[in-house]
Amino acid sequence: MRDKVVVKWGGGLITEKSQLCTANREIIHSLVDTIITCHNNNMDVILVHGAGSFGHLRAKKWRLNEGKIDPSNFTAVDSCTTQEQAVKLVRKDMLTLNSIVMDELTKADISAAVLPPHMWAKSTGENFEGDLQFFASAPEGIVMVTYGDVVDCDEPQMFGILSGDDLVTRLAIEVPNVKRLVFAIGGVDGLLRCPPQRATEDDLLEIWHPGIIFEGEHQQNIDVTGGIGLKAARGAKVAQNGIEVMMVSGQHPQRVADACIGVATRGTKVVSK
Ligand code: IPE
Repeated sequence: MRDKVVVKWGGGLITEKSQLCTANREIIHSLVDTIITCHNNNMDVILVHGAGSFGHLRAKKWRLNEGKIDPSNFTAVDSCTTQEQAVKLVRKDMLTLNSIVMDELTKADISAAVLPPHMWAKSTGENFEGDLQFFASAPEGIVMVTYGDVVDCDEPQMFGILSGDDLVTRLAIEVPNVKRLVFAIGGVDGLLRCPPQRATEDDLLEIWHPGIIFEGEHQQNIDVTGGIGLKAARGAKVAQNGIEVMMVSGQHPQRVADACIGVATRGTKVVSK
């Protein structure tokens, strides 16, 4: 069986994060080549993408991350009168973003199959329920794709947000033959010692483990999932299982490709200690 790499394309990278449902097609297009590089180096790819402006803005507005709230606290608008309707709308938006990703893969002649989490996963966080067998048994050269989504939960929560960061954690650890996990992120070269606005070239942490303090930026006013801090924590857990973990800027596809095939590049290597 060939080695595999699990790659997360962050939502902040593949969308314009503050503009509702706006994809960054150019970036998506450039990232597709990194998958071809993996195939040319005999590696299979499991691709997980984030939500960016196709998920966070509406999920936040309609409080889907909080689960089912008292209907009297829901601010209805003409286009959406209940949280249940909001769940459907956000799932639809995520299918739209995914179809853009799938379209770019197809145009590059890459065979890919998508498994939308709301169809196979339940509950949120890294202990979500769901059978990862389809990811493990994909034929050579077929890219298995999934993404951060609104999933069903048990009562009383009823629904919640399953982050792509939780998906990659489980996929990297539980699918056999995964050698690496690569986070392609937007706006930064990796984990920085201080927030990006203040950081210089030298503030990149080339190696990070949970004992190193960093001031990650988390746009709590926009994000319904954990931001860079969640990625770092999940990355350390994956590294503990003997899998290489890198965080690199997705605005430099060459770095993503290099990280995927195990060539040293600019970014943050995440280790467990
Ligand atoms: C969030 O998924 C999913 C929704 C908001 C519906 P992620 O946590 O993987 O998304 P990004 O990468 O932060 O955008």
